[in-house]
Amino acid sequence: MTTYKNLLVETAEPGITIIKINRPSVLNALNSETIRDLRDALRIEAVNPVSRVVILTGEGEKSFIAGADIAEMKDKGFSEGTEFAQLGHQVTKLLELMPKPTIAAVNGFALGGGTEMAISCDFIVASDNAVFGQPEVALGIIPGFGANIRLAKFVGLPRAKELIFSGRRIKADEAMAIGLVNHVYPAQDFMKHVLELARQISENSHSAVSRAKQLLNEFGESVGLNQKLDAEAHAFGRLFGTADQREGMTAFIEKRKAKFKGI
Ligand code: COA
Repeated sequence: MTTYKNLLVETAEPGITIIKINRPSVLNALNSETIRDLRDALRIEAVNPVSRVVILTGEGEKSFIAGADIAEMKDKGFSEGTEFAQLGHQVTKLLELMPKPTIAAVNGFALGGGTEMAISCDFIVASDNAVFGQPEVALGIIPGFGANIRLAKFVGLPRAKELIFSGRRIKADEAMAIGLVNHVYPAQDFMKHVLELARQISENSHSAVSRAKQLLNEFGESVGLNQKLDAEAHAFGRLFGTADQREGMTAFIEKRKAKFKGI
């Protein structure tokens, strides 16, 4: 099995692969290296004939993914910002379109790119300490890994707008109430429940489940996805190098509130 610096890939039981983001010192924030590793691991799982279901989760009890790595993003400009979004899109498309179910097992913070990775999976199961949100506007940018396209599919357009415009964080019970997550389980036996669900799926006809996923994606309008994601990547990239983006990310690193000028 391939080993990765910031990723743990394990076969939980026959047919079920768990991919864990493993950067707990920064709450599993996604830097480019980790995103590339995740892409490579997902490419392998997409064609792995013995893997029936893929579970994405985070190492530790505190965080699923606390977003894209702000320290890495801080000094990016337009083309680097755009390329970063496009790299993230390679991962989100694999999660959404690979011919087998992907489950986001959200075990804590899922902010920014964390919520975006979760909503690229077929569905989300959350532990009761999960926290979701799209806080990008507080950093002077917009979501860049697909939330502008996918979040409304889970929660409807008005709620997606509220979450993206406000950057408000929501807890597991609210996420459940608005349809973002399918189930919420207590943190102590959370993975047991996720595995039960994965097992139930993996015992069905793989070809039937795969065909159903393809059809549901087409009817749910994954058609035209590339064009929409390209538009998002460019809009995301255009905000890099602006005064507000530099201020928003510097303020996070300096642990203070940002003072935006709107430019
Ligand atoms: N990028 C880079 N580093 C991050 C990070 C991110 N997205 N999220 C957390 N970290 C780092 C922190 O800088 C801190 O590092 P330090 O120990 O060197 O200071 C470490 O992870 C622990 O985070 P901390 O903020 O101390 O934990 P907390 O429990 O007080 O708060 C969060 C947790 C998730 C609420 C807070 O870390 C946060 O708001 N993170 C950013 C979320 C975000 O805006 N994501 C979208 C990015 S586009």
